[in-house]
Amino acid sequence: NKRLSVAIDGPAAAGKSTVAKQVAKEFSYIYIDTGAMYRALTLKAIQSGADPENEKDLMELLQEMEISLVPSGTQQLVLVNGEDVSEAIRTSAVTDHVSAVSMHGRVRAEMVKRQQEMASSGGVVMDGRDIGTHVLPHADVKVFLLASVEERAKRRHEENLSRGYESDLSLLEKDIARRDKLDSEREISPLRKAEDAVEIDTTSLSIEDVVVRIKQLMEERL
Ligand code: C5P
Repeated sequence: NKRLSVAIDGPAAAGKSTVAKQVAKEFSYIYIDTGAMYRALTLKAIQSGADPENEKDLMELLQEMEISLVPSGTQQLVLVNGEDVSEAIRTSAVTDHVSAVSMHGRVRAEMVKRQQEMASSGGVVMDGRDIGTHVLPHADVKVFLLASVEERAKRRHEENLSRGYESDLSLLEKDIARRDKLDSEREISPLRKAEDAVEIDTTSLSIEDVVVRIKQLMEERL
């Protein structure tokens, strides 16, 4: 059987990782969360007092970082030089600064290089903002997930509450809208639907509906 590469892009909290993980599991493919890599660098920058605007400092940090994405049950652990940062990269401090860190051209070039290496043997489901447009321009299946800001904030809110985290719905809406704007207006590989990506508006769809649709698209390419 052919081992496909699948690119899943879309705005913040559109359900990309939930859906990507499930699809990867059903095909026994590797799941690669590229947002986690930008988050890991952002965490490192915060911890070391580096300015998220300073590309040179960020690059020095990144050169010293080995970022590994390790499957663990249905989840994925994010390790930086062997240290588990899976939880630490989800804090609001990281979320607040990650779009600034991921604007820089050299940072993106290095991340894209690492992501392409991880995907080189196929059998991958990769999610992010620029996968279909830059990281895997020849992906077998490209999906662009969309949902209204209200719906995305509501889902993230419910997810936070179910995990026992504090959560503020109107703050989430503002944060999601702000990140969408920064990510789609940045100069280098902004958030865009690739020409040949299939757009799926998930506002009124369940996770299962979206997974089924992506699996259909994959079957057509096998
Ligand atoms: O996917 P997630 O919301 O965790 O991504 C965090 C941030 O990382 C995004 O808001 C975006 O600024 C950046 N990112 C990116 N390119 C990717 C994945 C994430 O610029 N491929």
